[in-house]
Amino acid sequence: MRAWFLALGLLVPALAVDEARVAAAIQSGGPRFAQAMQQDESERVCSQYPEGLPADRLSAFVARERARVVLPERMMGDWRRGREVFVTPSKGNCYACHAGEPAEPAFGDVGPPLTNYGLRGTGEAIVRYTYEKIYNPWITVPCSTMPRYGVNARLTPEEIADLVAYLLSPESPINPAVQGGGQ
Ligand code: HEC
Repeated sequence: MRAWFLALGLLVPALAVDEARVAAAIQSGGPRFAQAMQQDESERVCSQYPEGLPADRLSAFVARERARVVLPERMMGDWRRGREVFVTPSKGNCYACHAGEPAEPAFGDVGPPLTNYGLRGTGEAIVRYTYEKIYNPWITVPCSTMPRYGVNARLTPEEIADLVAYLLSPESPINPAVQGGGQ
């Protein structure tokens, strides 16, 4: 009995100190880092199944991710501002993973090329799909490597709408093959 008390007495403060130190270390990176360090349920499930989600996990996953998206009234903004967000490393940094304007020589290929993305037109369904893809790519591709820009507040709803305009507008230089555009 006495040994048990002694062990408990040693164990409890040891645990308490460690947790406090870890929390302090995380907080020292600032509130955004602290938030990023906190795994949400979907991230936990994604790391649990690196080869892909089992079928019986899919519907709950997609429902949870869908519930995180807030659709604004105006999903298509200003393509010129969207272009800035697209290229700026601290904002979209989209060239890290996607090809875009044909004149841009440096781009990654983790994601599909977005050159002439606007050939899909500007119908309601494609505008909405594009807004949702940038806000939360996990709705359509669970555990995608593309960042959840809206969910993680890396971009504002206005910046996402500007990106949608950049990808879809016929006038956008990312769409040289779209009639009347690509000037
Ligand atoms: C870390 C890599 C990465 C970054 C950064 C990234 N993406 Fe993606 N993106 C992907 C991958 C991988 C896919 C394919 C899987 C998916 O749809 O989620 C994709 C898919 C897409 C699609 C759907 C393409 C289609 O044919 O339907 C769009 C649109 C898109 N990305 C736009 C963007 C924009 C805009 C940015 C910058 C704000 C961006 N991506 C940044 C990796 C990335």
